[in-house]
Formats: sequence, structure tokens, C-alpha cells
Amino acid sequence: MRILIIGSGGREHALAWKIAQSPRVKKIFAAPGNPGTAQFAQNVPMAADDVKSLIEFARREKIDLTVVGPERPLIAGIVDAFQEAGLRIFGPNAAAARLEGSKSFCKQLLRHHAVPTAEYRSFKRAVDARKFIETRDEAVVVKASGEALGKGVFVCETHEQAFDAVQQIMVDRVFGDAGNEVVIEEKLTGEEASILALVDGRNIYTMESSQDHKAIFDGDKGPNTGGMGAYSPAPVVTDAVMSQIERDILVPTVHAMNHEGCPYSGLLYAGVMLTPGGPKVLEFNVRFGDPEAQPLMMRLKSDIIDAMEATIDGRLDEVTLEWSEQAAVGVVMAAAGYPGDYQKGKVITGLDDAATMNNVMVFQAGTREVDGRIVTAGGRVLCVTAVGPTIADAKILAYEAAQRIRFEGAQYRTDIADKALRRR
Ligand code: AMP
Ligand code: GLY
Repeated sequence: MRILIIGSGGREHALAWKIAQSPRVKKIFAAPGNPGTAQFAQNVPMAADDVKSLIEFARREKIDLTVVGPERPLIAGIVDAFQEAGLRIFGPNAAAARLEGSKSFCKQLLRHHAVPTAEYRSFKRAVDARKFIETRDEAVVVKASGEALGKGVFVCETHEQAFDAVQQIMVDRVFGDAGNEVVIEEKLTGEEASILALVDGRNIYTMESSQDHKAIFDGDKGPNTGGMGAYSPAPVVTDAVMSQIERDILVPTVHAMNHEGCPYSGLLYAGVMLTPGGPKVLEFNVRFGDPEAQPLMMRLKSDIIDAMEATIDGRLDEVTLEWSEQAAVGVVMAAAGYPGDYQKGKVITGLDDAATMNNVMVFQAGTREVDGRIVTAGGRVLCVTAVGPTIADAKILAYEAAQRIRFEGAQYRTDIADKALRRR
């Protein structure tokens, strides 16, 4: 088969690495890819949301299957366009991708179908949002309704913080049109987990659990990022909790999407808060998590192409995925200043050294090759991922590898997976 992977992050590097292991795959392209995907794929210089060029390319190169990494093209309708062109593609169509593209759509759907989630109100005018905040005594979470790369969410303990969030989202429009509407939610407490599932419209195949680390600093301090590290499995998600998530969240959501006339096909990612009152949805994403995909792909033993094809064809009931018993931990190395402004072009050293380590993969995200050297080109630069018999072993190995890699201003959390370690 000939495969086209769309995107250029660590998730796409991990997908390219995994897809390359399929005996059915003869050739992989990545658009636009990065120096990491280039190890397994031929990078082609097309933007992830340049749907017209991507369709022309897929036709010309006789691509058998296109795999979309990031949410933006999905929300913009790349799946609809490929399908109209008679091309095979993995992911939800635009109507189904609203689950991530519009928090207000998502919250309405959840409320209407009684799927557990935080209580909320949405507002199109800043003045109404402020009035509502004034009536609230408890902490609130203020979110840009549109897609804002995981950064449009403010957990606010005080009215001042909440007013400031409304100001940034709706008045200063820091996230552009994503801030046309805000969603204001009750603040939930508990531990978070990421539940990724394949969904073919009817059947749901839940993958192994994982946990992300959204905040920039150790101890979950500082502003939210796209994700600073992830591990799998997440011991907080016991078999009983997983069954509860499937029964109370995944099944009714997939059912609700059918009921609303927008059946879901692709990878569905539920960001869940495990509250004292049971699991509640924080958000849905309509694609693999980044960085969750990195540890998950390192634990997946089965052929992912078979699973993706079964998803597209509505045959997920025939699929069983095999997972390694080992644990995986991924540590994100980010540029100084991220998630705010950061510099690019810093030379990265130690990649070859880390590549000699067994059970380690350095997935590249914001990198670029300049004159034969790999330099930084984004906020999240690398995700150093390791597998080991236990989470503790995988953590030690991942940090050993991260220490071999250097670039000016590199920052990473030192407590990835500690929540899992504390549970034992
Ligand atoms: P979201 O993009 O909606 O998942 O929000 C990003 C992060 O903000 C989540 O992973 C949580 O850490 C935090 N968050 C979002 N909504 C809530 C909430 N209702 N209560 C507490 N924390 C939240
Ligand atoms: N890891 C969070 C996300 O992919 O949105």
C-alpha cells in the first residue's frame, strides 16, 4: 500500500514509525512531515490544510490510504473532500469533527444526551460572560469555543482571572475567531486521563489508557500547553473505571452522533476527569493525542493499518489490537519561552547518541534540517519516549535519553509519570 500521512508533529513521527512496520505498506509520504518522519517517509512540501494540493497529490501518487494527524484539516472538511474525490482517508468528516472544532457544539451534545461533563454556559458577548462570572462564587474554567491548539483554556480561581481570560479570548482575540464564543464551565477536580478509541460509526474499540501533562511546569503548575509528556498505561484507569468510561461516555456519545445525523468514524479521544462523582468529559479530540500517540504507538503490537481500514469499512467488530505488557513514558522537550513566544533555529545535539539506546525513540516535532544539522523550529521540539517493564523503568530510561540531548534553552518537566508512581 501507498500511504500519505498529513501533519508534522511528534504524533505524525510516531504514526510514520508505526505504519512503516506494516508489511502491507510499500511507500509512505508525509505532508509536510519533519526530519523525524523523513526517516520512514518521503516528506512532501504541502501544508496540512492545503486540501486541494493534497488531493491532487493523492491522485497522482495513487495513494491507497491517507491518515490525518492534526485536527485543523479534519475540522475544515478534508475527509469530505477526499471522499468526494473517491480517495480513502482515515478520520471523521467535518460534521463529526465539530466535536472538537466547537466546544459549544460538544457541550450541547453532551448535555442533551446526558453524558457526564462539567456544567457550563456559553456566551457570544463579553459583557454577558462577565455578568455570569460575577454571579459565580466557585472557580470557573473559561474556554475559547473554537480550536486553539489546546491553549485557549483558562482555569480561574478568582473573578479577576476569569475577567482577564474573557478579555484575552473575546476582546484581545488572542486565539482569533476561536474566541467568537466562550464556554464557561464549573471547575472539576480529580485526576485526568486520555482515552483513545477507534470508532466506525457503530463499533467502539478502546485503546490502552494514557495520561497527558498539560501544564508547562512540574506539579502541574503554569499555563497549559499542547502537552508536555505522556505515559501508558495509566493505572488510575482501572478495568472498572475503563468500563464506566465506555458505558457512560463513549457509547452514549457515539450514539448521540448518530442521532444528530453525523456518525463518527476515526479516532475519538476523550479527555476525561476522574472526579469523585465518576468520570466526566473535559473535551473530545477527533484525532490521536500528541503526545499520547507516542507512548501508545510504542506499546501497540498489531498492524495499525489493518485497524484503520477496519474503522473506515465499519468492521471494527472484527479487530483485536495486541498491546505490549511493557509501559511507555514520553517526555516532551520544549523551546525556552513555550507556550509563550519562543526562539527557533537552535542546534540540537545528541540525537545520534540517544538513537543508539535500546527501547528509546526520539520522536521529532518542531524540528528542521538546515545544512545537515537538526535545529529547533517549534515550541514542542521532541518527545523522548521509552518503554520498560514498569512505568518507573520507562521513566528512568526516557530521562536518561533526554539528558543526552541538548539545545539552547531546552526545558522539560522532570515529573512525567509521577502520578502513576505515587499510586503504588
Ligand atoms: P480542554 O482543552 O478543554 O481539555 O482543557 C485543557 C485542560 O484544561 C484540561 O486538560 C484540564 O487540565 C483543564 N480543564 C478543562 N476544563 C476543565 C474543567 N471543567 N475543570 C477543571 N479543569 C479543566
Ligand atoms: N495531548 C493533548 C492533545 O493532543 O490535544
